[in-house]
Amino acid sequence: RIPVVMDVDTGVDDACALLLAALHPAVDLRAVTCVGGNTDVAQVTRNTLAVLEIAGRDDVPVARGAERPLIERAVHARHVHGDDGMGDLGWVHTDREPDPRHAVELLRDVLGDATEPITVVPTAPMTNLALLARTYPEALRSVGRIVFMGGAAQRGNATASAEFNVFHDPEATAIVLEAAAEHGIPVTMYGLDVFYDPTVTRAEAQQLAASTDDMARLAGELIEFQCERFGSEQATIGDAGAVCAVIDPGGIQTSALPVRVELAGTWSRGRTIVDVRDWSGDLAHDPHGRADAVIDVALEIDGRRYADLWLETVRRT
Ligand code: BDR
Ligand code: CA
Repeated sequence: RIPVVMDVDTGVDDACALLLAALHPAVDLRAVTCVGGNTDVAQVTRNTLAVLEIAGRDDVPVARGAERPLIERAVHARHVHGDDGMGDLGWVHTDREPDPRHAVELLRDVLGDATEPITVVPTAPMTNLALLARTYPEALRSVGRIVFMGGAAQRGNATASAEFNVFHDPEATAIVLEAAAEHGIPVTMYGLDVFYDPTVTRAEAQQLAASTDDMARLAGELIEFQCERFGSEQATIGDAGAVCAVIDPGGIQTSALPVRVELAGTWSRGRTIVDVRDWSGDLAHDPHGRADAVIDVALEIDGRRYADLWLETVRRT
């Protein structure tokens, strides 16, 4: 089993990702840390606890982390994820309290205790991980891999240039990519180039939602919510695709490419600049002398394969 730690901003599609990570037999989910993003961090933490409870995974420690990005103010995405961040579907009730540690301390402890490399899967702004890299850099020695949802080679969603998670905290992403390069940690970027491709149809979602199993019902309702919101007959499993990429890496094709995060820019701040040239040196120099991050960028995906992986897991067949 693959030891995994997730960092989330639950989030309709983070919920889809959590259900998969909580239930798939190939994943050993060691901890989940929460960060402000789709909604505020207190709500993100409640949502995360509620989803894990529905999945029967009260054993997984959940900690609350950073409320806001390193520099800018938080911009939430309630227009996409609803007021409670979970589509206002009435699923967010739990008596469980989060772990008393801050997310950064929980990450430090879980990584520090690890006897084998841990795969870290951020599906949210990377504020917690940047704070970890700056506060307890030695913890990164236990990180075997980072597979993150964020960025894109070709397009944005929060702005025309930038994907939401990177846009929300560009400095954090830059810090994490640099720290990974310094520590020799392989990074896979599961970005918008592939994010929209694994889709579940409204009919498949309705079937799930009609189940007697709470977990399947929640999964179905989350997809149906997105179909309604976007007026579509299908919806992406979103962040869950990044978990699929951990379980079944053969479902995506990646290219090792230099990636920089645009930290300035008026209309391009938060863009991941993916260098697709035949790269043999660059006329651009980082004024701060940061390590170049060459990361595995997901450019092609077998969307049906990942959608099926998710469906089979959440319907427990
Ligand atoms: C990402 O931003 C959030 O809205 C989603 O949960 C996903 O992580 C997509 O840009
Ligand atoms: Ca997310």
